[in-house]
Amino acid sequence: MSSSVIPVITIDGPAGSGKGTIARQLAAILSYHYLDSGALYRALALQSQEQNIKPDDCESLLALCQKMNVRFGVSAPDKSNISQEHVSVYLNDREVMEELRTEDCAARASQLASQPKVREALLNKQRSFRKAPGLVAEGRDMGTVVFPDAESKFFLTASPKERALRRQKQLKKQGISASLGPLLTDIETRDSRDQNRKVSPLRPATDALLVDSTELSIEQVVNRIAEVVRGRH
Ligand code: C5P
Repeated sequence: MSSSVIPVITIDGPAGSGKGTIARQLAAILSYHYLDSGALYRALALQSQEQNIKPDDCESLLALCQKMNVRFGVSAPDKSNISQEHVSVYLNDREVMEELRTEDCAARASQLASQPKVREALLNKQRSFRKAPGLVAEGRDMGTVVFPDAESKFFLTASPKERALRRQKQLKKQGISASLGPLLTDIETRDSRDQNRKVSPLRPATDALLVDSTELSIEQVVNRIAEVVRGRH
């Protein structure tokens, strides 16, 4: 099968919109491959920090991108309940999920992601996840830039307050207590950087279906999306 005929479902949206959880469940339901593109930016952020590479040292960052190998592992007993804890991310065969999830790593990833050359270097890496029988790809520019020919595109939103609350709950589960104010500020800062960068800003593809998850459960969103996808098959 040539890669361009392998179906891709893209799920884009801001931090905390629920796209990760939804993309993972959808991939499991459809038995498709899964790409968390944010994890690639985070992996680059982690590795560059470990190697003391400055965020503006483009040449070293590009060399790092070339050598970086990221793969995902999902091990969940129940396809309808796959949380972050069921996903492993291997960076050059080292499991790094916990390190990637920190706010610090997210902020550094967002900083690197605003550099056009870094985005370009990660483009082919992201496209290499397109394998039969299909791919669910989540991120910020999956439908607009990385897979513009995807067969189904979704853009998830939720109010900033709801997204900060979700993040607070997630941290609490990990035993970390965080106040809402700083989480909200982090989310708004990241949104603004992602929406206003010159290359691949966060925005819905013109052919994406918008889904506001503020008042919907994960299950309701997954069902809605799965219904649309099945209707297209
Ligand atoms: O999705 P996640 O929060 O893991 O992404 C971390 C950061 O990586 C985002 O804030 C964004 O700046 C960047 N990113 C991006 N394009 C993507 C995925 C993530 O710019 N497709």
